[in-house]
Amino acid sequence: MSIFDKYRQSFGEFGYDEAPPAQREAAPPSGEAEDAARRMREFMAHRTMEDRMSGGPGAAPRTDDAAEAEAARARRRKLADLRQQAHAQLLETFNLSALVQANEAEIKTEIGNIVRALVPQQAIALSRSDRDQIIDDLYYEVMGLGPLEILIKDDSISDILINGPEQVFVEQNGILEVTDVSFQNEAHLRRILQKIVAMTGRRLDESTPYVDARLPDGSRLNAIIAPIALDGTLVSIRKFKKDKLSLDQLVLFDACSEKMAAYLRAAVTARMNIIISGGTGSGKTTLLNALSAYIGRRERVLTIEDTAELQLQQAHVGRMESRPANVEGKGAVTQRDCLRNALRMRPDRIIVGETRGDEVIDMLQAMNTGHDGSMTTIHANSARDATSRLENMVAMAGIEIPLGALRRQIASAVNLIVQVSRLQDGTRRIVSLTEVVGCEGDVLTMQELFYFEHTGVSPDGRVEGHFVASGIRSHYADRFKRWNIRLPADVFGG
Ligand SMILES: Nc1ncnc2c1ncn2[C@@H]1O[C@H](COP(=O)(O)OP(=O)(O)O)[C@@H](O)[C@H]1O
Ligand SMILES: [Mg+2]
Repeated sequence: MSIFDKYRQSFGEFGYDEAPPAQREAAPPSGEAEDAARRMREFMAHRTMEDRMSGGPGAAPRTDDAAEAEAARARRRKLADLRQQAHAQLLETFNLSALVQANEAEIKTEIGNIVRALVPQQAIALSRSDRDQIIDDLYYEVMGLGPLEILIKDDSISDILINGPEQVFVEQNGILEVTDVSFQNEAHLRRILQKIVAMTGRRLDESTPYVDARLPDGSRLNAIIAPIALDGTLVSIRKFKKDKLSLDQLVLFDACSEKMAAYLRAAVTARMNIIISGGTGSGKTTLLNALSAYIGRRERVLTIEDTAELQLQQAHVGRMESRPANVEGKGAVTQRDCLRNALRMRPDRIIVGETRGDEVIDMLQAMNTGHDGSMTTIHANSARDATSRLENMVAMAGIEIPLGALRRQIASAVNLIVQVSRLQDGTRRIVSLTEVVGCEGDVLTMQELFYFEHTGVSPDGRVEGHFVASGIRSHYADRFKRWNIRLPADVFGG
């Protein structure tokens, strides 16, 4: 007996059908079946699907002969009909609980059987590749993420950005480009989105029209729906990179110089408190991950994030993720709650994925009270800007503390600010390494050890420039000595 025969139930559990479950359980009356068939036809008429069935947009039949063109159209219609019928039949016979135990090959075999059984009715010659394409599409539609599946699977794509059903952009090799992937309509997009959100255990509906979630594979998803999103649902997916970039690779990719990498390695090993500052998508988290490789194997590290994405290689890591409030506005556990608790968990180092709120107070305190070697990222445009962001966050948290005192606290808490940036050509670079060395009067004193000097733009639009060591020596030379770190004499240039 096939897995589908065993569970002759409706397909509703996938959230594909909008009808309530009670209705779906009964055998559908013919009106409903017709309705389903119509919806299915609409879906199958979907542009990119049709393109793909004809062998992709580039392979569309090119002929001046009207009759031939008509024949090609008729064939496409038949293929669409076939696909539609196969899908309708899948909806009738599929059941999620059965599918969970089946593997991809088994499910595809079943889909193949259904497709094959339908071929005689359609009077169509189905090539092997046509059939495989239909099977793949149906498989993704049923089991996976429909049109998104292909983008999710492509490891060279780092970001997927959806602006309503018809516009899907991807970032590939640092370049943002529109794709020919689209959804049938807003409802189709929402259905796929709900499927993804359901996997994460978060909610997305009228009352909470946006969501920030981590997908099972580690990718990050943000979505916002109408009425807040005006022209269709907005989705951004930052794909999880299986291979994290190491500091050596960052040097190879020209994200920083050898000397900068050597200095950063020393800074992490010697337990300096580090803030990585930059804009959205500038590579902060990537660098934080890379730097974490130099945390000692014997140290106990606790990480705190709003959406877990850090991947430390150490054995001794405790990970925490904050939680938003539930539908009654209760049960929130903030980063600050996590951080306060973390301080009671005997950490050697604390890493906060991104500091953006009142947890800043506890972070500064922790950095000042023996948890040196702590690291975080912050959204800012320069080292100076990063420190004012810290001050602003403290002020926003409602802490009344004279500015001078606050600055002295920042000066003693933070040792190094790493500024990263996504340049105009899409490359990401460490554009500045700046040490915080103290406080003179009410002014923070900093020294920039390294920076990226932007010299121009090449004819093909690439940023030209080089990394410069300013010649200033590290304020923390004694500390490096204590940790037995010997940096080559010329690291700081000059
Ligand atoms: N130096 C780099 N070279 C190439 N790609 C990078 C580099 N740094 C980061 N990336 C990629 O850029 C994207 C955004 O990086 P991420 O660290 O998540 O940014 P942020 O935390 O600043 O938002 C990721 O896909 C990441 O793999
Ligand atoms: Mg990040």
